[in-house]
Amino acid sequence: MKILAVTSEAFPLAKTGGLGDAVSGMARALHAAPGASIGILMPAYRGVLEQLPNAREVARFTDLPGGPARLLMAPCAALGGVPVLLLQNDALYDRDHLYVDASGREFADNPLRFGALAHAAVQIAAGRTRLPRPDIVHAHDWHAGLVPLLLREAGLHDVKSVLTIHNMAFQGVYDMDWAESLGVPEKYLTWDGAEFWGKLSFMKAGLRYADRITTVSYTYAREILTERFGCGLQGLLAARQHELLPVPNGIDAREWDPATDPHLGIYRYSAGEMANKSRNKCELQRRFGLNIDSNAPLLVMGSRLTHQKMADVALHAVQRALDDHPELQVAVLGQGEHALEQEFQRLPHRYPGRCGVRIGFDEDAAHKLHAGADMLLHGSRFEPFGLTPLYAMRYGTIPIGSCVGGMADTISDMGASAGRDAMRSATGVLFDGETVDAMAAAITRTLGLYRRPEIWRAMQHRAMSTDFSWERAAPLYLTLYRSIQPPRVVAESITPSDVTAHGRPSLLDQVSAAARPLLTGTSAGTLAAGAGD
Ligand code: ADP
Ligand code: GLC
Repeated sequence: MKILAVTSEAFPLAKTGGLGDAVSGMARALHAAPGASIGILMPAYRGVLEQLPNAREVARFTDLPGGPARLLMAPCAALGGVPVLLLQNDALYDRDHLYVDASGREFADNPLRFGALAHAAVQIAAGRTRLPRPDIVHAHDWHAGLVPLLLREAGLHDVKSVLTIHNMAFQGVYDMDWAESLGVPEKYLTWDGAEFWGKLSFMKAGLRYADRITTVSYTYAREILTERFGCGLQGLLAARQHELLPVPNGIDAREWDPATDPHLGIYRYSAGEMANKSRNKCELQRRFGLNIDSNAPLLVMGSRLTHQKMADVALHAVQRALDDHPELQVAVLGQGEHALEQEFQRLPHRYPGRCGVRIGFDEDAAHKLHAGADMLLHGSRFEPFGLTPLYAMRYGTIPIGSCVGGMADTISDMGASAGRDAMRSATGVLFDGETVDAMAAAITRTLGLYRRPEIWRAMQHRAMSTDFSWERAAPLYLTLYRSIQPPRVVAESITPSDVTAHGRPSLLDQVSAAARPLLTGTSAGTLAAGAGD
C-alpha cells in the first residue's frame, strides 16, 4: 500500500510547532512497518534543499497555481530514509519564514502557496509523474485541505483520502476570488461544499470531501463536535462523525530520550539513573540567569506564547506563584504574540535570580529545558494533542496541564481529593478552566507533591516509563488505511486472515474498535444532537 503524506511541515526539514514533529514521527514509524510505503510531499522552503543535498528532479509541473514548479526527491536520513518530495517554486516558498513576513503578518499569497501543494499532490495521484501512484493521500491540516476536493474533481476515485486535523483553530479561510486561480470550480462553492461564511475554506474542503477524517486525540474528537471547540465546523463534523476517527499521536522516542539525547552532552540520564538530571538543572539555571540551587523547584514553560496556550493567564499565574512560594524558580522559552512576549520579558527584572525568559524558537534549548526542569506549566484553552507535555514526561519533568484535548488523555492525575499518596501512580497534574486562580492552585498543588520526594520520584518514574512512542501509535493508521484502500490494492494484498467468515475485512472492525472511545459514555445520536451549528 502506497501512502502520500501531504504536509506543510516535517521535522527536521521545517517546523514551527507540533505538526512537523507529528508528521515526521508518523511517517518514520510507517516507513519501518511492513506492508506500507510512505512518502512526504512538502514545499521546498528556504534551507530545506540544503538538508537534502542528494535530492534529484523527478517531475516538472507547468500548470500549477503560482507558476511552474519542480518536484525533487530524496530519502531523508534524519527520518530513517523516508522519501521526501519537495515542491520547488522559489517565488512561492523561498522566504525567511514559513507562513508570515518579518512583521508577523500572514503572507497574502498563502492560498496560492498551499493550493499549489494540493495540485501537485493530485498530479502525483493521477500518475502524471514518473512516480508510482499512491493508494492513499493523507492530508495534514488546512494546508493540504484542498487535496480531497481536487481528487474528487479529477475523478480519481481509486485514490482514497484521509484528512488529519491537527488544529481546528487554523482553517485557511480566504476570499472567494481565489477559487478560480486555485482551480476550484463553482459547484464546490456552496454551504454544502467548501464555502464558509461567504469565503473559501481549505479546512472545510478537506473535512467535506475526505474519505476519512482523523483527530490526533480521543478527547479532541469529541470536543470538536461542540460549539466551544468546533470553530464553526461542528455541524459538518457531526454530519460526518461516522467517518471521523481519533488516531492519537505518538512521540519520536529516539529524538526525545534523556539517555541518548545529544543536546544534553555528557549529562544524560534515565529513569534508573537520575543523578544527571540535577546537573542539567544547574546548567539550565545558569543559562536563564537563575540562582544556582539544585533544591529550588524549577518550573518551566516551553511553547508558543499565544491565546491557545493560555500565555495571558500564565503571565499572572506565574507571578502569583513566585510571590506565594519564595523557593520557586521559573524559566520561560517561547515566542508568539508580540504583546505577551514583551510582558514576559519584564518578569526577570521583577524577580531577579528567580525568573528567566528567552524569546525565540530554539530546538536545542527545548531539549535542555525539559531535561533541567522539575515541572512544566502547559495551560491550553484547547489542545488537539499536546506533544510538549509528553516530551517533559519522558525527561522526568512533571506536567501541569489543562484538562482538555490530548492532555486529558495522556496526563494521568488521581485528583486533589484522592490524597497525595494516591499520586504515586500519577504522571502529572491537571486543572480545569482558564482562570489564574485555577492555574496558580495547580502550581501550588504540584509544589506540595514536589516536597514529598518519595511521591515525586514515583511520579517521575511513571512518567518516564509510559510508552507514548509512534511505534505504538502508527499501526492504527495502517488499520485505517487498509479499511479504505481502493479495490485494486485489496485484490493485490489481502490475505485470508484479514477476512472474517462473512468475507468482510476484519480490519474494519479494528478501526471501529479504535474509534470506540470516541463514543464512550454517550451515543452517536447524543453527540450529533449536542453538536449544533
Ligand atoms: P503546538 O503544535 O500546538 O505548538 P505541541 O506541544 O504539540 O503544540 O508541539 C509544540 C512543538 O513545538 C514541540 O516540539 C515544542 O518543543 C516546540 N516548541 C514550541 N515552542 C518552542 C520554542 N520556543 N523553541 C523550541 N521549540 C518549541
Ligand atoms: C497542533 C496542535 C497540537 C498537536 C500538534 C501535532 O499544532 O496544537 O496540540 O500536538 O498539532 O498534532
